[in-house]
Amino acid sequence: MSEIKKIKEQYTSKLDELLDQNKLNIIKTELFGKNGIISTRFKQLGSINEKERKSYATELNLLKNELQELISKKNEEIQNEEINKKLNNDKIDVTLPGRSYFAGKIHPVSQVIDEVTSIFSEIGFSVEEGPDIENEYYNFSALNTPDNHPARDMHDTFYLEHSKDLLLRTHTSPVQIRTMLKGKPPFKIIAPGRTYRHDSDQTHSPMFHQLEGLHIDKNINMGHLKGCLYYFVKKFFEVDKVKIRFRPSHFPFTEPSAEVDIGYKIQDGKIKIGEGDKWLEILGCGMVHPNVLKNAKVNPKQFQGYAFGVGIDRLAMLKYGINDLRAFFESDIRWLEFYGFDPLDIPTNYRGLSR
Ligand code: PHE
Repeated sequence: MSEIKKIKEQYTSKLDELLDQNKLNIIKTELFGKNGIISTRFKQLGSINEKERKSYATELNLLKNELQELISKKNEEIQNEEINKKLNNDKIDVTLPGRSYFAGKIHPVSQVIDEVTSIFSEIGFSVEEGPDIENEYYNFSALNTPDNHPARDMHDTFYLEHSKDLLLRTHTSPVQIRTMLKGKPPFKIIAPGRTYRHDSDQTHSPMFHQLEGLHIDKNINMGHLKGCLYYFVKKFFEVDKVKIRFRPSHFPFTEPSAEVDIGYKIQDGKIKIGEGDKWLEILGCGMVHPNVLKNAKVNPKQFQGYAFGVGIDRLAMLKYGINDLRAFFESDIRWLEFYGFDPLDIPTNYRGLSR
């Protein structure tokens, strides 16, 4: 047997054995290293006589190619095996604790707006919006509030710089006018939103939230207003019985006007709505003044109705036992973690207390 054949047989069987990367590298050096079997034979080609040289060189070349191919095949095999081994060993440990993600919370004001909207929409109110920056006409004049009325005072109202006309709305009542001007009666709407007054203490902040209500039709009277407010307060505070007191009051845009108090008591340091003999003011209301209807192009001889304005932040404080209004707007994430609501706990309805 020729020498080349011997080498071929020897190494083909060597390369056929179970090898790891290390052993394969050793074989590679044995054959193709600087002094390797194949390399030295190529170097010695020159010393072979010319006749034999050509055929020997061809055989040697073939052998070189075959062995290189075998080595690269083996190399691939070994690497695949290693990957499979890794996959088998690195199994997922399902007993590891999960990673926790930071979940956002719904602010109590947003939560209460959702709850209130849901309650009123059940009895046929739709939602309207108006701009935060209003002009004097919508905020005051159209609402039958004359030029010399104290509510227009610079001490209460934020006027925009360089403007005698533009201001931050002091209540949501201008949405009454905007709604009536763009449509035709009857109207049955609520309008939640931001409102602004120059005021700041434990129960007042310069920016706060109101919910306006307006119901205008052919024969809406104070009885409807009362019924609507009883329904709302019971649903919102999740109680069967409520004590509500209508106190005569004055607003330029309603006649007669009333302020509404709800009865409550403090039990074990917690506020209980609907019991006891303490009173808390929650809203202003009344029958829409004929002048307001006229300004909004509604004929007061044909149509009449009621309006009310509730402080949303105050509702949130009462329902969820939060006693400082200013914390609502300080953007302290720890506060929100504590008082906020789970985003997935969708308030399909006034379920706030049972969360
Ligand atoms: N706009 C009044 C306020 O801010 C509340 C109110 C609204 C009163 C509608 C009567 C009717 O105090």
